[in-house]
Amino acid sequence: MHRSIHPTCTSTLVHYEEKVGKKFNMADFWPIHCKTTSSRTKRSTDEDEFVTQNILKAISQHTDVSDCNVIQIGAHNCLLSKEIASKCKSLLIFDCNKDFLSSNRTAVGEKANVKYCGDNVLQVDQPADSVNIVIIDEMLQYFDGKDMQALLERILTWLKKDGYFLCLESCHSIKESSDKSEGEKSSCRDFGFYHAAFQLVSIDSADSHFGLDVVFSQTLQYTQGEEVRKSPTLWMMIKDPISEQCNHGFKTFQEFLDSKQYSVTGILRYEKVFGRCFVSTGGLDTTKKFVAKLNIKPGEKVLDVGCGIGGSAFHMAQIYGAEVVGIDLSTNMILIAHQRCQEVNLTQKVHFEIADATKRHFEPCSFDVIYSRDTIIHIKDKLALFKKFYEWLKPGGRLLITDYCCSAGSHSDQFKSYTKQRGYIFLPVEKYGQELKEAGFQNIQSTDMTDHFIEILHNEKNKVHNMKKEFIQQFSVDDYNAIISGWEEKVQRCKYGDQKWGHFMAEKLAST
Ligand SMILES: C[S@@+](CC[C@H](N)C(=O)[O-])C[C@H]1O[C@@H](n2cnc3c(N)ncnc32)[C@H](O)[C@@H]1O
Repeated sequence: MHRSIHPTCTSTLVHYEEKVGKKFNMADFWPIHCKTTSSRTKRSTDEDEFVTQNILKAISQHTDVSDCNVIQIGAHNCLLSKEIASKCKSLLIFDCNKDFLSSNRTAVGEKANVKYCGDNVLQVDQPADSVNIVIIDEMLQYFDGKDMQALLERILTWLKKDGYFLCLESCHSIKESSDKSEGEKSSCRDFGFYHAAFQLVSIDSADSHFGLDVVFSQTLQYTQGEEVRKSPTLWMMIKDPISEQCNHGFKTFQEFLDSKQYSVTGILRYEKVFGRCFVSTGGLDTTKKFVAKLNIKPGEKVLDVGCGIGGSAFHMAQIYGAEVVGIDLSTNMILIAHQRCQEVNLTQKVHFEIADATKRHFEPCSFDVIYSRDTIIHIKDKLALFKKFYEWLKPGGRLLITDYCCSAGSHSDQFKSYTKQRGYIFLPVEKYGQELKEAGFQNIQSTDMTDHFIEILHNEKNKVHNMKKEFIQQFSVDDYNAIISGWEEKVQRCKYGDQKWGHFMAEKLAST
Protein backbone atom coordinates (compact mmCIF):
# COMPACT_ATOMS: atom_id res chain seq x y z
CA MET A 1 0.00 0.00 0.00
CA HIS A 2 1.40 3.40 -1.01
CA ARG A 3 0.45 6.41 0.98
CA SER A 4 0.09 9.84 -0.50
CA ILE A 5 -1.02 13.17 0.87
CA HIS A 6 -3.36 15.21 -1.23
CA PRO A 7 -1.09 17.91 -2.72
CA THR A 8 -3.06 20.80 -1.24
CA CYS A 9 -3.52 19.16 2.10
CA THR A 10 -0.54 20.27 4.11
CA SER A 11 -0.65 23.80 2.79
CA THR A 12 -4.35 24.09 3.63
CA LEU A 13 -3.81 22.95 7.19
CA VAL A 14 -0.77 25.16 7.57
CA HIS A 15 -2.92 28.04 6.35
CA TYR A 16 -5.42 27.27 9.11
CA GLU A 17 -2.63 26.97 11.65
CA GLU A 18 -1.44 30.44 10.70
CA LYS A 19 -4.91 31.82 11.28
CA VAL A 20 -5.30 30.28 14.72
CA GLY A 21 -1.70 30.62 15.86
CA LYS A 22 1.22 28.23 15.46
CA LYS A 23 0.97 24.97 17.36
CA PHE A 24 3.94 23.12 18.70
CA ASN A 25 5.50 20.35 16.69
CA MET A 26 4.73 16.82 17.87
CA ALA A 27 8.43 15.94 18.05
CA ASP A 28 8.93 18.72 20.62
CA PHE A 29 5.64 18.13 22.34
CA TRP A 30 5.63 14.40 22.80
CA PRO A 31 8.62 14.03 25.18
CA ILE A 32 7.21 16.76 27.44
CA HIS A 33 3.74 15.33 27.25
CA CYS A 34 5.02 11.88 28.24
CA LYS A 35 6.19 13.25 31.55
CA THR A 36 3.10 15.14 32.59
CA THR A 37 -0.53 14.15 32.83
CA SER A 38 -1.73 17.65 33.70
CA SER A 39 -2.70 18.68 30.17
CA ARG A 40 -5.12 15.78 29.90
CA THR A 41 -6.61 15.66 33.38
CA LYS A 42 -9.20 18.37 32.92
CA ARG A 43 -12.16 16.04 32.31
CA SER A 44 -14.37 14.88 35.15
CA THR A 45 -15.69 11.33 35.51
CA ASP A 46 -19.13 12.62 34.51
CA GLU A 47 -17.69 14.09 31.36
CA ASP A 48 -15.91 10.84 30.52
CA GLU A 49 -19.19 9.03 31.06
CA PHE A 50 -21.02 11.48 28.77
CA VAL A 51 -18.41 11.15 26.02
CA THR A 52 -18.32 7.37 26.37
CA GLN A 53 -22.10 7.01 26.08
CA ASN A 54 -22.17 9.15 22.95
CA ILE A 55 -19.34 7.25 21.29
CA LEU A 56 -20.88 3.88 22.18
CA LYS A 57 -24.26 5.02 20.85
CA ALA A 58 -22.72 6.09 17.53
CA ILE A 59 -20.93 2.75 17.22
CA SER A 60 -23.96 0.64 18.10
CA GLN A 61 -26.11 2.56 15.60
CA HIS A 62 -23.74 1.67 12.77
CA THR A 63 -22.03 -1.65 13.46
CA ASP A 64 -21.85 -4.69 15.70
CA VAL A 65 -18.82 -4.00 17.87
CA SER A 66 -18.49 -7.66 18.87
CA ASP A 67 -17.10 -8.31 15.37
CA CYS A 68 -14.69 -5.39 15.51
CA ASN A 69 -10.96 -4.82 15.95
CA VAL A 70 -10.74 -1.42 17.62
CA ILE A 71 -7.88 1.05 18.15
CA GLN A 72 -8.17 3.75 20.80
CA ILE A 73 -5.61 6.54 20.56
CA GLY A 74 -5.13 8.11 23.99
CA ALA A 75 -5.67 6.07 27.17
CA HIS A 76 -7.09 8.83 29.38
CA ASN A 77 -10.74 7.78 28.97
CA CYS A 78 -10.55 4.51 30.95
CA LEU A 79 -14.31 4.15 31.02
CA LEU A 80 -14.45 4.10 27.22
CA SER A 81 -11.69 1.46 27.11
CA LYS A 82 -13.49 -0.64 29.70
CA GLU A 83 -16.79 -0.53 27.82
CA ILE A 84 -15.24 -1.24 24.43
CA ALA A 85 -13.01 -4.00 25.85
CA SER A 86 -16.02 -5.81 27.27
CA LYS A 87 -17.75 -5.86 23.88
CA CYS A 88 -15.24 -5.93 21.02
CA LYS A 89 -13.13 -8.64 19.37
CA SER A 90 -9.85 -6.84 20.06
CA LEU A 91 -8.76 -3.47 21.44
CA LEU A 92 -5.36 -1.83 21.04
CA ILE A 93 -4.78 1.26 23.17
CA PHE A 94 -2.02 3.74 22.30
CA ASP A 95 -0.57 6.23 24.72
CA CYS A 96 3.00 7.19 25.41
CA ASN A 97 2.05 8.58 28.78
CA LYS A 98 2.88 5.70 31.13
CA ASP A 99 0.59 7.00 33.90
CA PHE A 100 -2.45 6.94 31.64
CA LEU A 101 -1.56 3.49 30.38
CA SER A 102 -1.23 2.05 33.86
CA SER A 103 -4.50 3.65 35.13
CA ASN A 104 -6.19 2.28 32.05
CA ARG A 105 -4.81 -1.23 32.68
CA THR A 106 -6.11 -1.10 36.24
CA ALA A 107 -9.57 0.07 35.12
CA VAL A 108 -9.91 -2.47 32.31
CA GLY A 109 -8.39 -5.40 34.24
CA GLU A 110 -6.60 -8.35 32.64
CA LYS A 111 -8.31 -9.08 29.34
CA ALA A 112 -7.02 -11.36 26.61
CA ASN A 113 -8.51 -9.15 23.87
CA VAL A 114 -6.80 -5.92 25.04
CA LYS A 115 -3.25 -4.79 24.17
CA TYR A 116 -1.38 -1.62 25.10
CA CYS A 117 1.30 0.29 23.23
CA GLY A 118 3.38 3.02 24.87
CA ASP A 119 5.21 4.14 21.70
CA ASN A 120 4.55 7.25 19.66
CA VAL A 121 1.57 6.41 17.48
CA LEU A 122 3.28 8.18 14.57
CA GLN A 123 6.11 5.67 14.65
CA VAL A 124 4.22 2.42 15.10
CA ASP A 125 3.01 0.42 12.15
CA GLN A 126 -0.13 -1.68 11.96
CA PRO A 127 -1.14 -3.98 9.11
CA ALA A 128 -3.13 -2.21 6.41
CA ASP A 129 -6.87 -2.96 6.22
CA SER A 130 -6.92 -4.67 9.62
CA VAL A 131 -9.02 -2.41 11.85
CA ASN A 132 -12.79 -1.82 11.95
CA ILE A 133 -12.92 1.19 14.25
CA VAL A 134 -10.42 3.87 15.31
CA ILE A 135 -11.35 6.23 18.14
CA ILE A 136 -9.61 9.46 19.12
CA ASP A 137 -11.15 11.26 22.05
CA GLU A 138 -9.82 14.83 22.51
CA MET A 139 -6.33 13.97 21.28
CA LEU A 140 -6.04 15.55 17.83
CA GLN A 141 -5.69 18.94 19.50
CA TYR A 142 -2.19 17.90 20.60
CA PHE A 143 -0.98 17.31 17.03
CA ASP A 144 0.20 20.08 14.75
CA GLY A 145 -1.22 20.19 11.22
CA LYS A 146 1.56 18.16 9.64
CA ASP A 147 1.54 15.42 12.27
CA MET A 148 -2.23 15.30 12.26
CA GLN A 149 -2.09 14.68 8.55
CA ALA A 150 0.43 11.87 9.04
CA LEU A 151 -1.74 10.35 11.76
CA LEU A 152 -4.90 10.52 9.66
CA GLU A 153 -3.10 8.81 6.80
CA ARG A 154 -2.02 6.03 9.12
CA ILE A 155 -5.53 5.63 10.44
CA LEU A 156 -6.91 5.49 6.92
CA THR A 157 -4.34 2.84 6.01
CA TRP A 158 -5.10 0.69 9.06
CA LEU A 159 -8.86 0.85 8.58
CA LYS A 160 -10.64 -1.76 6.53
CA LYS A 161 -12.86 -0.51 3.72
CA ASP A 162 -16.11 0.68 5.38
CA GLY A 163 -14.25 0.92 8.70
CA TYR A 164 -15.23 3.80 10.99
CA PHE A 165 -13.19 6.66 12.41
CA LEU A 166 -14.66 8.40 15.46
CA CYS A 167 -13.17 11.63 16.64
CA LEU A 168 -14.23 13.90 19.47
CA GLU A 169 -12.77 17.41 19.72
CA SER A 170 -13.65 20.75 21.22
CA CYS A 171 -13.91 23.34 18.47
CA HIS A 172 -13.88 27.10 18.48
CA SER A 173 -14.50 29.70 15.84
CA ILE A 174 -11.40 31.21 14.21
CA LYS A 175 -12.22 34.50 15.92
CA GLU A 176 -12.36 32.88 19.36
CA SER A 177 -9.14 31.00 18.71
CA SER A 178 -7.26 34.16 17.79
CA ASP A 179 -8.46 35.80 21.00
CA LYS A 180 -6.86 33.11 23.17
CA SER A 181 -3.61 33.71 24.99
CA GLU A 182 -0.47 31.87 23.85
CA GLY A 183 -0.83 29.26 26.59
CA GLU A 184 -4.41 28.43 25.68
CA LYS A 185 -3.81 28.00 21.96
CA SER A 186 -2.68 24.40 22.31
CA SER A 187 -6.26 23.19 22.60
CA CYS A 188 -7.96 25.62 20.22
CA ARG A 189 -8.92 24.91 16.67
CA ASP A 190 -11.96 25.80 14.68
CA PHE A 191 -14.38 23.30 13.16
CA GLY A 192 -13.17 24.18 9.66
CA PHE A 193 -9.65 23.01 10.44
CA TYR A 194 -10.75 19.50 11.36
CA HIS A 195 -13.27 19.43 8.54
CA ALA A 196 -10.51 20.29 6.05
CA ALA A 197 -8.15 17.73 7.57
CA PHE A 198 -10.69 14.90 7.29
CA GLN A 199 -11.77 15.90 3.83
CA LEU A 200 -8.25 16.18 2.45
CA VAL A 201 -6.66 12.99 3.73
CA SER A 202 -6.41 10.22 1.17
CA ILE A 203 -4.36 7.13 0.39
CA ASP A 204 -3.81 4.99 -2.68
CA SER A 205 -4.01 1.23 -2.60
CA ALA A 206 -3.42 -1.15 -5.50
CA ASP A 207 -7.02 -1.05 -6.68
CA SER A 208 -8.49 2.14 -5.27
CA HIS A 209 -8.08 5.61 -3.88
CA PHE A 210 -9.50 5.93 -0.36
CA GLY A 211 -10.61 8.82 1.79
CA LEU A 212 -12.85 9.61 4.74
CA ASP A 213 -16.51 10.27 4.01
CA VAL A 214 -18.72 11.85 6.63
CA VAL A 215 -21.35 9.67 8.27
CA PHE A 216 -22.28 12.43 10.70
CA SER A 217 -20.84 15.18 12.79
CA GLN A 218 -22.77 16.63 15.68
CA THR A 219 -22.21 19.05 18.54
CA LEU A 220 -22.72 17.34 21.88
CA GLN A 221 -23.88 19.36 24.83
CA TYR A 222 -22.43 18.41 28.17
CA THR A 223 -24.65 20.13 30.73
CA GLN A 224 -24.61 20.44 34.49
CA GLY A 225 -27.99 21.65 35.72
CA GLU A 226 -29.02 24.42 33.33
CA GLU A 227 -25.48 25.23 32.34
CA VAL A 228 -23.83 23.95 29.15
CA ARG A 229 -20.31 23.14 30.36
CA LYS A 230 -18.80 21.99 27.10
CA SER A 231 -19.89 21.48 23.48
CA PRO A 232 -17.43 19.15 21.79
CA THR A 233 -17.99 17.94 18.24
CA LEU A 234 -18.25 14.22 17.52
CA TRP A 235 -17.38 13.10 14.00
CA MET A 236 -18.08 9.70 12.61
CA MET A 237 -16.38 9.06 9.28
CA ILE A 238 -16.21 6.01 7.06
CA LYS A 239 -13.32 4.77 4.90
CA ASP A 240 -14.67 4.85 1.38
CA PRO A 241 -13.24 4.63 -2.11
CA ILE A 242 -13.17 8.15 -3.49
CA SER A 243 -13.69 8.92 -7.11
CA GLU A 244 -13.84 12.38 -8.60
CA GLN A 245 -15.72 10.89 -11.53
CA CYS A 246 -18.59 9.86 -9.26
CA ASN A 247 -18.69 13.22 -7.50
CA HIS A 248 -18.72 15.61 -10.44
CA GLY A 249 -15.01 16.38 -10.19
CA PHE A 250 -14.92 16.58 -6.37
CA LYS A 251 -13.44 14.10 -3.93
CA THR A 252 -16.66 13.64 -2.02
CA PHE A 253 -20.30 14.38 -2.71
CA GLN A 254 -20.31 16.66 0.30
CA GLU A 255 -17.53 18.73 -1.23
CA PHE A 256 -19.52 18.92 -4.46
CA LEU A 257 -22.61 20.22 -2.62
CA ASP A 258 -20.65 22.73 -0.53
CA SER A 259 -18.65 24.03 -3.48
CA LYS A 260 -21.31 24.19 -6.18
CA GLN A 261 -25.06 24.44 -5.57
CA TYR A 262 -24.84 25.06 -1.83
CA SER A 263 -21.95 27.46 -1.49
CA VAL A 264 -22.68 30.02 1.24
CA THR A 265 -23.63 32.65 -1.35
CA GLY A 266 -25.73 30.10 -3.22
CA ILE A 267 -27.65 29.31 -0.01
CA LEU A 268 -28.18 32.95 0.98
CA ARG A 269 -29.36 33.70 -2.53
CA TYR A 270 -31.92 30.89 -2.31
CA GLU A 271 -32.97 32.09 1.12
CA LYS A 272 -33.65 35.54 -0.32
CA VAL A 273 -36.05 33.92 -2.79
CA PHE A 274 -37.74 31.36 -0.51
CA GLY A 275 -37.82 33.42 2.68
CA ARG A 276 -35.93 33.40 5.98
CA CYS A 277 -34.64 29.93 6.93
CA PHE A 278 -35.92 28.22 3.76
CA VAL A 279 -34.20 26.95 0.65
CA SER A 280 -36.98 25.08 -1.11
CA THR A 281 -40.18 25.61 -3.04
CA GLY A 282 -42.80 27.78 -1.39
CA GLY A 283 -40.80 28.44 1.79
CA LEU A 284 -43.00 28.89 4.85
CA ASP A 285 -46.30 28.78 2.90
CA THR A 286 -45.91 25.23 1.57
CA THR A 287 -44.33 24.17 4.86
CA LYS A 288 -47.36 25.34 6.87
CA LYS A 289 -49.74 23.58 4.50
CA PHE A 290 -47.85 20.28 4.34
CA VAL A 291 -46.84 20.04 8.00
CA ALA A 292 -50.49 20.59 9.03
CA LYS A 293 -51.29 17.23 7.37
CA LEU A 294 -48.96 15.38 9.72
CA ASN A 295 -50.97 15.89 12.90
CA ILE A 296 -47.80 16.34 14.97
CA LYS A 297 -48.34 16.25 18.73
CA PRO A 298 -46.17 17.98 21.35
CA GLY A 299 -43.06 15.99 22.19
CA GLU A 300 -43.20 13.84 19.05
CA LYS A 301 -39.84 13.11 17.46
CA VAL A 302 -39.32 14.26 13.90
CA LEU A 303 -36.42 13.59 11.55
CA ASP A 304 -36.01 16.22 8.82
CA VAL A 305 -33.85 14.67 6.09
CA GLY A 306 -31.97 17.30 4.07
CA CYS A 307 -33.14 19.98 6.49
CA GLY A 308 -31.24 22.81 4.77
CA ILE A 309 -31.04 25.89 6.98
CA GLY A 310 -33.79 24.73 9.29
CA GLY A 311 -37.05 26.51 8.33
CA SER A 312 -39.29 23.42 8.48
CA ALA A 313 -37.65 22.12 11.65
CA PHE A 314 -38.24 25.46 13.40
CA HIS A 315 -41.88 25.51 12.27
CA MET A 316 -42.55 21.98 13.58
CA ALA A 317 -40.89 22.78 16.91
CA GLN A 318 -42.45 26.22 17.34
CA ILE A 319 -46.02 25.52 16.26
CA TYR A 320 -46.42 21.83 17.14
CA GLY A 321 -43.95 21.38 20.00
CA ALA A 322 -42.05 18.65 18.12
CA GLU A 323 -38.50 17.63 18.96
CA VAL A 324 -36.68 17.76 15.68
CA VAL A 325 -33.43 16.27 14.46
CA GLY A 326 -32.38 17.93 11.21
CA ILE A 327 -29.72 16.23 9.11
CA ASP A 328 -28.05 17.62 6.03
CA LEU A 329 -24.90 16.66 4.17
CA SER A 330 -23.95 20.23 3.35
CA THR A 331 -21.64 21.74 5.95
CA ASN A 332 -22.61 25.23 4.82
CA MET A 333 -26.30 24.49 5.33
CA ILE A 334 -25.82 23.18 8.85
CA LEU A 335 -23.49 25.99 9.91
CA ILE A 336 -26.15 28.51 8.84
CA ALA A 337 -28.91 26.37 10.42
CA HIS A 338 -27.05 26.54 13.77
CA GLN A 339 -26.98 30.34 13.56
CA ARG A 340 -30.67 30.57 12.66
CA CYS A 341 -31.52 28.16 15.48
CA GLN A 342 -29.88 30.46 18.03
CA GLU A 343 -31.74 33.43 16.55
CA VAL A 344 -35.13 31.75 16.96
CA ASN A 345 -34.13 30.39 20.37
CA LEU A 346 -34.93 26.76 19.62
CA THR A 347 -31.65 25.09 20.55
CA GLN A 348 -33.40 22.91 23.13
CA LYS A 349 -35.97 21.55 20.69
CA VAL A 350 -34.08 21.36 17.40
CA HIS A 351 -30.76 19.60 16.86
CA PHE A 352 -28.79 19.63 13.67
CA GLU A 353 -26.21 17.22 12.35
CA ILE A 354 -24.06 17.27 9.28
CA ALA A 355 -24.94 13.79 8.08
CA ASP A 356 -25.24 11.77 4.92
CA ALA A 357 -28.71 10.25 4.92
CA THR A 358 -27.39 7.34 2.85
CA LYS A 359 -24.71 6.46 5.43
CA ARG A 360 -26.31 7.54 8.71
CA HIS A 361 -28.17 4.96 10.78
CA PHE A 362 -30.54 5.47 13.70
CA GLU A 363 -31.99 2.84 15.99
CA PRO A 364 -35.17 1.21 14.67
CA CYS A 365 -38.39 2.95 15.79
CA SER A 366 -36.67 6.24 16.68
CA PHE A 367 -39.08 8.74 15.09
CA ASP A 368 -42.81 9.52 14.94
CA VAL A 369 -42.44 11.48 11.72
CA ILE A 370 -39.91 11.55 8.90
CA TYR A 371 -40.07 14.63 6.72
CA SER A 372 -38.01 15.51 3.67
CA ARG A 373 -38.39 18.43 1.28
CA ASP A 374 -36.84 18.50 -2.19
CA THR A 375 -33.76 16.57 -1.09
CA ILE A 376 -34.03 12.96 -2.23
CA ILE A 377 -33.48 14.13 -5.78
CA HIS A 378 -29.79 14.14 -4.79
CA ILE A 379 -29.88 10.45 -3.80
CA LYS A 380 -29.52 7.61 -6.27
CA ASP A 381 -30.71 4.57 -4.34
CA LYS A 382 -34.05 5.88 -3.13
CA LEU A 383 -35.41 2.43 -2.31
CA ALA A 384 -32.55 1.75 0.12
CA LEU A 385 -33.22 5.11 1.77
CA PHE A 386 -36.98 4.44 2.02
CA LYS A 387 -36.24 1.09 3.68
CA LYS A 388 -34.17 2.92 6.27
CA PHE A 389 -36.98 5.46 6.81
CA TYR A 390 -39.38 2.58 7.37
CA GLU A 391 -37.08 1.02 9.93
CA TRP A 392 -36.46 4.31 11.79
CA LEU A 393 -40.17 5.11 12.09
CA LYS A 394 -42.15 3.92 15.08
CA PRO A 395 -45.24 1.82 14.33
CA GLY A 396 -47.92 4.37 13.45
CA GLY A 397 -45.21 6.73 12.17
CA ARG A 398 -45.86 9.12 9.28
CA LEU A 399 -43.76 10.08 6.28
CA LEU A 400 -44.02 13.25 4.20
CA ILE A 401 -41.83 13.93 1.20
CA THR A 402 -41.85 16.52 -1.56
CA ASP A 403 -39.39 16.10 -4.38
CA TYR A 404 -38.51 17.08 -7.88
CA CYS A 405 -39.64 14.26 -10.18
CA CYS A 406 -39.80 13.62 -13.91
CA SER A 407 -42.36 12.36 -16.38
CA ALA A 408 -42.32 8.70 -17.41
CA GLY A 409 -40.67 7.95 -20.76
CA SER A 410 -38.00 9.86 -22.64
CA HIS A 411 -36.85 13.43 -21.99
CA SER A 412 -35.53 16.40 -23.90
CA ASP A 413 -31.79 16.95 -24.34
CA GLN A 414 -32.02 20.16 -22.28
CA PHE A 415 -33.52 18.21 -19.41
CA LYS A 416 -30.83 15.55 -19.67
CA SER A 417 -28.04 18.12 -19.56
CA TYR A 418 -29.66 19.93 -16.59
CA THR A 419 -29.91 16.59 -14.75
CA LYS A 420 -26.28 15.81 -15.45
CA GLN A 421 -24.97 19.23 -14.49
CA ARG A 422 -26.81 19.17 -11.14
CA GLY A 423 -26.19 15.48 -10.46
CA TYR A 424 -29.93 14.99 -9.85
CA ILE A 425 -31.60 11.58 -10.01
CA PHE A 426 -35.26 11.93 -10.98
CA LEU A 427 -38.03 9.35 -10.73
CA PRO A 428 -41.54 9.62 -12.15
CA VAL A 429 -44.16 10.33 -9.44
CA GLU A 430 -45.78 6.88 -9.83
CA LYS A 431 -42.44 5.05 -9.59
CA TYR A 432 -41.59 7.05 -6.47
CA GLY A 433 -44.82 5.79 -4.88
CA GLN A 434 -44.03 2.22 -5.94
CA GLU A 435 -40.64 2.37 -4.26
CA LEU A 436 -42.27 3.58 -1.03
CA LYS A 437 -44.58 0.58 -1.23
CA GLU A 438 -41.67 -1.77 -1.86
CA ALA A 439 -39.97 -0.35 1.22
CA GLY A 440 -42.95 -1.47 3.31
CA PHE A 441 -45.02 1.73 3.59
CA GLN A 442 -48.79 1.71 3.53
CA ASN A 443 -51.57 4.21 2.89
CA ILE A 444 -49.34 5.85 0.31
CA GLN A 445 -50.63 9.00 -1.36
CA SER A 446 -48.57 10.08 -4.37
CA THR A 447 -49.66 13.41 -5.82
CA ASP A 448 -48.40 15.22 -8.88
CA MET A 449 -48.35 18.87 -7.76
CA THR A 450 -46.68 20.31 -10.85
CA ASP A 451 -49.43 22.89 -11.49
CA HIS A 452 -49.07 24.24 -7.98
CA PHE A 453 -45.28 24.20 -8.42
CA ILE A 454 -45.56 26.37 -11.56
CA GLU A 455 -47.83 28.82 -9.72
CA ILE A 456 -45.31 29.10 -6.86
CA LEU A 457 -42.43 29.55 -9.31
CA HIS A 458 -44.26 32.49 -10.92
CA ASN A 459 -44.82 34.10 -7.53
CA GLU A 460 -41.21 33.60 -6.49
CA LYS A 461 -39.91 35.02 -9.75
CA ASN A 462 -42.15 38.08 -9.36
CA LYS A 463 -40.98 38.53 -5.79
CA VAL A 464 -37.33 38.60 -6.91
CA HIS A 465 -38.19 40.90 -9.81
CA ASN A 466 -39.90 43.33 -7.40
CA MET A 467 -36.84 43.49 -5.17
CA LYS A 468 -34.34 43.65 -8.01
CA LYS A 469 -32.40 46.63 -6.63
CA GLU A 470 -32.11 45.16 -3.14
CA PHE A 471 -31.20 41.73 -4.53
CA ILE A 472 -28.43 43.15 -6.71
CA GLN A 473 -27.14 45.24 -3.83
CA GLN A 474 -26.91 42.19 -1.58
CA PHE A 475 -25.60 39.83 -4.26
CA SER A 476 -24.82 40.89 -7.85
CA VAL A 477 -26.36 41.41 -11.27
CA ASP A 478 -25.14 37.95 -12.26
CA ASP A 479 -26.82 36.43 -9.22
CA TYR A 480 -30.06 38.21 -10.05
CA ASN A 481 -29.96 37.02 -13.66
CA ALA A 482 -29.11 33.46 -12.59
CA ILE A 483 -32.17 33.31 -10.33
CA ILE A 484 -34.55 34.83 -12.89
CA SER A 485 -33.36 32.57 -15.72
CA GLY A 486 -33.19 29.55 -13.40
CA TRP A 487 -36.84 30.04 -12.41
CA GLU A 488 -37.92 30.58 -16.02
CA GLU A 489 -36.16 27.38 -17.05
CA LYS A 490 -37.87 25.42 -14.26
CA VAL A 491 -41.25 26.61 -15.56
CA GLN A 492 -40.28 25.67 -19.11
CA ARG A 493 -39.16 22.18 -18.08
CA CYS A 494 -42.49 21.66 -16.32
CA LYS A 495 -44.56 23.04 -19.19
CA TYR A 496 -42.63 20.94 -21.68
CA GLY A 497 -43.57 17.93 -19.57
CA ASP A 498 -40.09 16.79 -18.46
CA GLN A 499 -40.15 17.97 -14.86
CA LYS A 500 -42.75 17.26 -12.17
CA TRP A 501 -43.14 18.08 -8.51
CA GLY A 502 -44.24 15.15 -6.36
CA HIS A 503 -45.87 15.15 -2.93
CA PHE A 504 -45.90 11.86 -0.99
CA MET A 505 -47.46 10.79 2.27
CA ALA A 506 -47.23 7.31 3.74
CA GLU A 507 -47.50 5.41 7.02
CA LYS A 508 -45.87 2.59 8.86
CA LEU A 509 -48.92 0.85 10.23
CA ALA A 510 -49.21 0.51 14.00
CA SER A 511 -49.82 -3.24 13.80
CA THR A 512 -46.67 -4.13 11.79
C1 LIG B 1 -33.19 21.98 -1.99
S1 LIG B 1 -32.36 21.72 -0.47
C2 LIG B 1 -33.79 21.60 0.59
C3 LIG B 1 -33.51 22.01 2.00
C4 LIG B 1 -34.68 21.98 2.96
N1 LIG B 1 -35.34 20.70 2.95
C5 LIG B 1 -35.69 23.07 2.70
O1 LIG B 1 -36.81 22.72 2.33
O2 LIG B 1 -35.40 24.23 2.88
C6 LIG B 1 -31.79 20.05 -0.58
C7 LIG B 1 -30.90 19.65 0.59
O3 LIG B 1 -30.56 18.27 0.51
C8 LIG B 1 -29.27 18.10 1.09
N2 LIG B 1 -28.72 16.78 0.75
C9 LIG B 1 -28.32 16.32 -0.45
N3 LIG B 1 -27.86 15.05 -0.36
C10 LIG B 1 -27.97 14.68 0.94
C11 LIG B 1 -27.66 13.50 1.67
N4 LIG B 1 -27.14 12.42 1.07
N5 LIG B 1 -27.89 13.48 3.00
C12 LIG B 1 -28.42 14.56 3.62
N6 LIG B 1 -28.73 15.71 2.98
C13 LIG B 1 -28.52 15.78 1.66
C14 LIG B 1 -28.52 19.28 0.50
O4 LIG B 1 -27.34 19.56 1.16
C15 LIG B 1 -29.57 20.38 0.61
O5 LIG B 1 -29.47 21.10 1.80
